[in-house]
Amino acid sequence: MDLYAHIVGWGMYAPETVVTNNDLAKIINTSDAWIRSRTGIRERHIANEKESTVTLATRAAKEALDRARIRPAAVDLVIVATFTPDYVLPSTASLVQNELGARHAGAFDVNAGCTGFIYALSMASAMIEAGHAEVVVVVGAETLSRVVDWQDRATCVLFGDGAGAVVLQAGEDPGGVLSTVLGSDGAGGNHLIIPGGGSRLPATPQTVADRQHFIKMNGPEVFKFATRVMGRAAKEAVEKGNVRLEDIDLFIPHQANARIIKSAAKYLKLNPDKVYQNLQKYGNTSSASIPIALCEAIAEGRVKDNDNLVLVGFGAGLTWGATVVKWGLPVPYQQRQWWYRALRSMHYRWAKIVAKIGWLLRVLESRMAHRLLRPLEYEPEPEPEAPDAPAVETIAPPEVPPGANGRASNGHASNGDAAKLPEPTIEQK
Ligand code: UT7
Repeated sequence: MDLYAHIVGWGMYAPETVVTNNDLAKIINTSDAWIRSRTGIRERHIANEKESTVTLATRAAKEALDRARIRPAAVDLVIVATFTPDYVLPSTASLVQNELGARHAGAFDVNAGCTGFIYALSMASAMIEAGHAEVVVVVGAETLSRVVDWQDRATCVLFGDGAGAVVLQAGEDPGGVLSTVLGSDGAGGNHLIIPGGGSRLPATPQTVADRQHFIKMNGPEVFKFATRVMGRAAKEAVEKGNVRLEDIDLFIPHQANARIIKSAAKYLKLNPDKVYQNLQKYGNTSSASIPIALCEAIAEGRVKDNDNLVLVGFGAGLTWGATVVKWGLPVPYQQRQWWYRALRSMHYRWAKIVAKIGWLLRVLESRMAHRLLRPLEYEPEPEPEAPDAPAVETIAPPEVPPGANGRASNGHASNGDAAKLPEPTIEQK
């Protein structure tokens, strides 16, 4: 029996605060005319200090689950595509899973730059098609305002915050995610990078002073790369999905730059009415841009039952990816009744209380364990008596010449030559 991954729910969230190009022109040397003519962006949404990638992702995921009419307890897997996680550890997906009360779900993050959502969707659909999961929540979420350099006019005008999510469910009817194409060219990794904060350049006062924890981008190189890969990836995915280019009903590209979208549409010979664009309102929200665009396209009545949608992304890595989705749900979507929404809101409150109780129990448990588990008393074992057996000829180990660093060259410190520790750093002194 073949299984297909169908999109059965969708949701998005954009923070309330809107920053226009003119607002930016008051703090950096730029203009509305420059930003609009080079990118098409007019404004973007920026998270407030209480918001983070987890809160944005959770809002979008809740909306998607509501639309899908699926209980959080029925979710098997939560995948979050992001490169602006709340923490390096734990994953954003685990925190979202907890907020949703999706207590039977596994969770992990995907980082493929702005292509993250396509990668996550590809993994989710593969899990469903292989029968390993029945319901998967896929989220693209970013708080890019926390990693853009607000002194760098070449990048800070481009990005915005937001989240979009879909719920995938296994079904036996052909349709849903028909094909995916993924690609990467790490040779171009330095064209779009946050140099500091990883194992290569851990955070120090110097990396902070040098602004190494912000996005650095070679805009023209990324631009050229994007115009090269977008159309080709879409074409490949269409061929793989056994769909003809003329059968594409809506092309939903990564929302980075109107000029890049135009060039991809030209390559695919698509009419402008088959191309969706909303970057003027959100800027580039990276992993969130495609699911946000999908949600808005649905809300505007641009997606109908049986439509062939082509989603295409590109971004840091450098990476690219495309997917063909056969839409299988009647839209417009019927709003849920007030009592259902009230019940759902109670469920999420309850999930929060359960999570708090779980946390408290773990604290208690670890305190009790601390008291109960005293260190074991150690009694040295008696030396075994030497047997009276005849002496056996033993082979002496070969002599190992000491290495240049004063250690035996087999890696073990030789007698009387204690392993040398590195000099303490200033902080340790
Ligand atoms: O998700 C993937 C993320 N990245 C992208 O999608 C970015 C792809 N690249 C692009 O979209 C474009 O390269 C940009 C929009 C970033 C830049 O457009 P461009 O036409 O490639 O401009 P440029 O970088 O070649 O800069 C042209 C000029 C420069 O001045 P000079 O050297 O000609 O005097 C820049 O200093 O524009 C200047 N400039 C600005 N001027 C006003 C750069 N940023 C700004 C700005 N306002 N914000």
